[in-house]
Amino acid sequence: MRRIVVTSALPYANGDIHLGHLVEYIQTDFWVRFQKLRGNECVYICADDTHGTPVMIRARKEGISPEELIARSHATHLKDFSDFQIAFDNYYSTNSPENREFSEKIYLAAEKQGYITKKTTPQLYCDKCRMFLPDRFVKGTCPKCGAAGQYGDSCDRCGATYGAEELGSPVCTTCGATPAAKDSEHLYFELEPQRDYLEKWIPGHTTSDVSNKLLEWFKEPLRGWCISRDAPYFGFEIPGYRDKFFYVWVDAPIGYIASLKNWCDRNGKGDLWNDPGVELYHFIGKDIIRFHCLFWPGMLRAAGLKGPDKVFVHGFLTVNGEKMSKSKGTFVNARTYLENLPPEALRYYYAAKLGGTVDDMDLNLDDFVQRVNSDLVGKITNIASRSAQMLQKKLGGMLGRLDAEGAELLATIREASEKIAGFYEERRFNMAIVEICRCADLANAYFDRKEPWKLVKSDPEAARVALTAAMNAFRAIAVYLAPVLPAYAQKAAKLFGESGWTWSSAGVAVEGAALGDYEYLASRIDKKQVDAMIAAATVKPADSGEVAHESRASKNKAKASVPAKGTIPFADFEKIDLRVGTVESCEAVPKSSKLLKFVLDAGPLGKRTIFSGIREAYPEPEKLVGREVVFVANLEPRKMSVGVSEGMILFAGEPGSNGGVLLPSSAAGGGTQVT
Ligand code: 2FM
Ligand code: ZN
Repeated sequence: MRRIVVTSALPYANGDIHLGHLVEYIQTDFWVRFQKLRGNECVYICADDTHGTPVMIRARKEGISPEELIARSHATHLKDFSDFQIAFDNYYSTNSPENREFSEKIYLAAEKQGYITKKTTPQLYCDKCRMFLPDRFVKGTCPKCGAAGQYGDSCDRCGATYGAEELGSPVCTTCGATPAAKDSEHLYFELEPQRDYLEKWIPGHTTSDVSNKLLEWFKEPLRGWCISRDAPYFGFEIPGYRDKFFYVWVDAPIGYIASLKNWCDRNGKGDLWNDPGVELYHFIGKDIIRFHCLFWPGMLRAAGLKGPDKVFVHGFLTVNGEKMSKSKGTFVNARTYLENLPPEALRYYYAAKLGGTVDDMDLNLDDFVQRVNSDLVGKITNIASRSAQMLQKKLGGMLGRLDAEGAELLATIREASEKIAGFYEERRFNMAIVEICRCADLANAYFDRKEPWKLVKSDPEAARVALTAAMNAFRAIAVYLAPVLPAYAQKAAKLFGESGWTWSSAGVAVEGAALGDYEYLASRIDKKQVDAMIAAATVKPADSGEVAHESRASKNKAKASVPAKGTIPFADFEKIDLRVGTVESCEAVPKSSKLLKFVLDAGPLGKRTIFSGIREAYPEPEKLVGREVVFVANLEPRKMSVGVSEGMILFAGEPGSNGGVLLPSSAAGGGTQVT
């Protein structure tokens, strides 16, 4: 028996679980369930990743404590996971006493080894928010290519990485104020002293596509990693410092150890993490390989702790071949999915698509409906529903014996057992499903050849023999499917009066037994359910404008009665190309009481000059420089007396009045399409 510990990346407490997250948790669950079914001792560990600025700011906005916020997320996440039949052995929190203790120990050990250095560096500070701004809380112009609206760590357009203080025209994304650089002392975890170790470690601990990518970084000196953050910060204070906290990415992976320790303590186990007889595997997405394959093994070695045996990396989820999009309704939360569709359908489809590589995986919604209906329901479940119901209705619900032909069918299906197991072990779930469907094809061909629906009238006992073989074929298939469809397999086992199947249960035949009641196993899904899910997940592009008008109207009842313009067909709305631009300059037009002249940096679209009649609302136009605005990019240029206007900037205010606000953009980057 193997002893195995498996982890999935810890989801941020700050957000909802969505279909993209589920690619990871569902496949890890397949693998863990497979190991358990094979008789291995396997512990599946996870937790909420609770620390950091986003949690702190969201809690502030909601007027609750971070602890309250993370408690709420923990319950919501766990419910989502369990409704998707994802069975963690422990789902803990990084905000735990165990995690504090391990984080301090690992840090102090690294310090003792001389791997921690101090540097005083300038960092952007927002006076209004009274905090240093994390990279993702500041936007500005890329210092390398000049693209506007870039985050403080890297440029979406040219891929450059830099420090936030290098951004041009920086803006605090929380409050809109301009932050200023301020010196602060920070702690760094140096990787260079472990260069040789890490360079050797990487190829043996992940797949070659991932390790080749990682090894590219070794062409240059490895940069130290900043592991401290200044107060205010929701996290663990660094021993020996006041108002300095561990960066969330320090204590997040340590959360794996803490969650395991918590499980071990509650289950009377020793130190499984460091037990040389225990295999340890991390499942992660390709966006976080640097943390798991560079910093993490470096931290663990510094502290003399065991590292993972392998890091399994998967790609991102696309929907209908594109990045998930809120405006297209393809950014679907776990709960929205569950309100419209059964969890088995997604688990089955993900299994049919996941091949254990770092390639992105596409959820094609038409293919999803088609595969679930034709394979899971039409091909696999149909064997049981037709056979069991015929046995129940016509033959007293009793299985008979297998004849030679039935035994041969089962032998062929059993021969596939180790092949399917091999595919599960290698995380080639798609190949396991291909092989399982091949078994189902054999069973269906047998059923059609035997024509039990005719035999039951002419020779009922011969029909019983045929149906017994078909039911046993289904039983073996359901065992093979158990890692993917655990609840389904449990119901299937109950049909045979069994429980607690193991992988080897597929090798045993059930004869002469009474069948239990036929419980529904899986039903067809309808495209309408998918459409309803997409509709529920769709965030309308006009939402922010509508809300702004509504809240204004609620404060001023007289103005609320101003009639809205008539509706327009969606096809007309779709013609409008909305983009984000950064205000490069803004000045009042001489001799005009209404007009402001804007020059926008619209990224790939270049510069745009736009005249806008909002001067009364913005008496100090220079203050708009650096702001992001949404504008109509495909409006016909309009010749005005003061020049040519090349677009229209969106502005929300009462008709006929100039007291209103420029619509803030929520998209990243100049020229970004607003969806
Ligand atoms: O990328 C993320 O969603 C992180 N919360 C993952 C952390 S994984 C581990 F290191 F804890
Ligand atoms: Zn601010």
